[in-house]
Order: sequence, then C-alpha cells, then structure tokens
Amino acid sequence: MNELLLILAVAMLVNPKGTRDASLDGKFTQAKSVEAPAFTSARPTVGFHDAARLRRGQRVFQQNCAVCHGRLAEGHPDWRKLGMDGKFPPPPLNGTGHDWHHPKAALVQVIKNGSPGGKGNMPAWQGKLSDQEIEGVIAWFQSLWPPEVRTVWARIDRESKRQ
Ligand code: HEC
Repeated sequence: MNELLLILAVAMLVNPKGTRDASLDGKFTQAKSVEAPAFTSARPTVGFHDAARLRRGQRVFQQNCAVCHGRLAEGHPDWRKLGMDGKFPPPPLNGTGHDWHHPKAALVQVIKNGSPGGKGNMPAWQGKLSDQEIEGVIAWFQSLWPPEVRTVWARIDRESKRQ
C-alpha cells in the first residue's frame, strides 16, 4: 500500500500538472524555446526558395488564405482554443504554430484535402489551386519562418522520407 502511494507521489513530482505528453506539442518541445519572430512587413526572407516562386506564392496566399490565416500568416489569436462552433480557429503558418511540425507531404495533403475528415474549417483546395500554386504558397509561408525553425523542419521532413 505504501509503495503505491510512493509511486503516485513520484509520478506527480515528475508531471505535476498532468501535461499531455503524448500530444503533438509534447513531442516537439523545441517549439517552446523558439522565439516568436517580430514581423514588421510581409516581405519574406529570401534564401530558402527562389524569388519567382515566392512572389507567386505570396499572391496565392493573399488571395486565398490571408482572409483566415492573416496577411502575415499570424493566425487567429485564439487558435489553440475551440471556437463557438466546436472547431479550431485558423492557426498561424508563420512558424509559431504547428505548421513546421508537418513534413512537406503532410502540408500538401492538408491544403489539398482541407481539415481531416471534414471536421474543421480548413477548406480543400484540390481542383482550385494547381500543384505549382500549392508549392508556391508553402514556399511563401515557409519563408516567414525563423531560421532555427526551418532547420528543425528540414530534419523532420528528411526523417519522414526515411520511414
Ligand atoms: C475559411 C478559412 C480558411 C481558409 C480560407 C484557409 N484556411 Fe487553412 N486552416 C483553417 C483552419 C480553421 C485550420 C485548422 C484546421 C483544423 O482544425 O482542422 C487550417 C489549417 C491549415 C493548415 C494546417 C496547419 C497546422 O498547423 O496543422 C495549413 C497548412 C493551412 N491551413 C494552409 C492554408 C492555405 C495554404 C490556405 C490558402 C490556400 C488556407 N489554409 C486557407 C482555415 C482556413
């Protein structure tokens, strides 16, 4: 009996708030140490992708995505909280949300197919945007990511291809 109490006490010390270790956030704790970048303009940092692709991507983003995700892809301020409709508000795509947890193939999928199972408010863009436009729009929001986020994402993307 005493042993059981001891185990419980230790478990509480290790995880006092009962945080959800199994969640996506828990797996990528690096996210918390990355400073949110201060954006002063929509001008992306060049160097990750070529300039023509970025310009195309920026146009596609401002015409189709900015209405929900924000002009600087900053997302809804309460994107982590369920909205009145029981669905999540649009998250940031500027490297301060979950966007960089997903390998390229997963980003393409969510953009083409929308919210998984149609359960959220992200529309499906398959048939509305070409593959090239989707590539461009991803390149554009990735160009807003801070360099350290890009480095971690590049590793996640590489590892996803090995599995
Ligand atoms: C009508 C509003 C709306 C529009 C327009 C919209 N989105 Fe979304 N998007 C959302 C919502 C809401 C989510 C969260 C999805 C969920 O909870 O299922 C989301 C999620 C995403 C995600 C996944 C992010 C993550 O962290 O997992 C990506 C990537 C994305 N959107 C890209 C885009 C792109 C690119 C466009 C434009 C071509 C776009 N969205 C247009 C509402 C929108």
